[in-house]
Amino acid sequence: MTVDPESIVKNGDADYVLKIFQATLNLIAHVLIGIVVGACILISFSNGLPMSPIMQHVVLCAVGYQLLMAEAILSLSADNGWSAVLRFKDKRRAHTILQVTGSALAIAGTLIVMMEKTSHFTSTHGILGFVALVFTTLSLVNGLTSLYAHEWRKFCPGNISKITHICFGIIAFGAASASLCYGFDAFFFRMWAGNNALTDTLIGFTAALTTIIIINPTITFFKKTSRFAKK
Ligand code: HEM
Repeated sequence: MTVDPESIVKNGDADYVLKIFQATLNLIAHVLIGIVVGACILISFSNGLPMSPIMQHVVLCAVGYQLLMAEAILSLSADNGWSAVLRFKDKRRAHTILQVTGSALAIAGTLIVMMEKTSHFTSTHGILGFVALVFTTLSLVNGLTSLYAHEWRKFCPGNISKITHICFGIIAFGAASASLCYGFDAFFFRMWAGNNALTDTLIGFTAALTTIIIINPTITFFKKTSRFAKK
């Protein structure tokens, strides 16, 4: 079989362009995470300390979901800046630590606001936040079964726990981001932001960073599912 050297160069160029594109998206995601989480930290501290329960809720959920959980997802991507140099074993360690601390902060933030309220999940923001809470818990549990997939293989085939872990993680992160957008849309956030353009920009930034972050796990989910179905 003869290989056309020109096609190798072309494929090499295409791979190179794709790598640059992915690295750029990764950089943009990090900048957007900084802006969105930064805005949540600013509003939370704007009335000084001690923080009201709602402000504790805002800062804990934003740092938990949009900073730590987002970085946990990104840490496994080959194009992620800070984790690219890590060995796979260490990437998994970083992912687990970020996922567990992020989930703990996010769950604490949700419980704090729930304790403040007498009727629950009455707003779109609250319902989406509840969906995020449920899937975060599920994803934590089956993250453990994925980590020990080999030891658990008698009770749960490794592939199934990995596929469901990715799926639950995508839903949890997506629902948390949608909830955050409704949180930004709330009257008191728009009042604090002082103008609608800033709030709308933050909503757009949240949508963009969420899309960038879930591209990789979504591709992995479909690849693993089709490989599993073919077996
Ligand atoms: C990822 C981020 C967030 C998540 C997952 C989340 C989740 C939730 C959940 C589950 C509730 C409902 C509790 C209940 O009904 O018992 C809630 C309530 C609330 N959240 Fe958030 N939240 C987030 C960010 C924010 C932000 C950024 C703000 C405002 C700037 C905010 C403001 C509020 C307020 C005012 C309530 C009480 C009223 C309501 O239920 O809508 N939250 N949140």
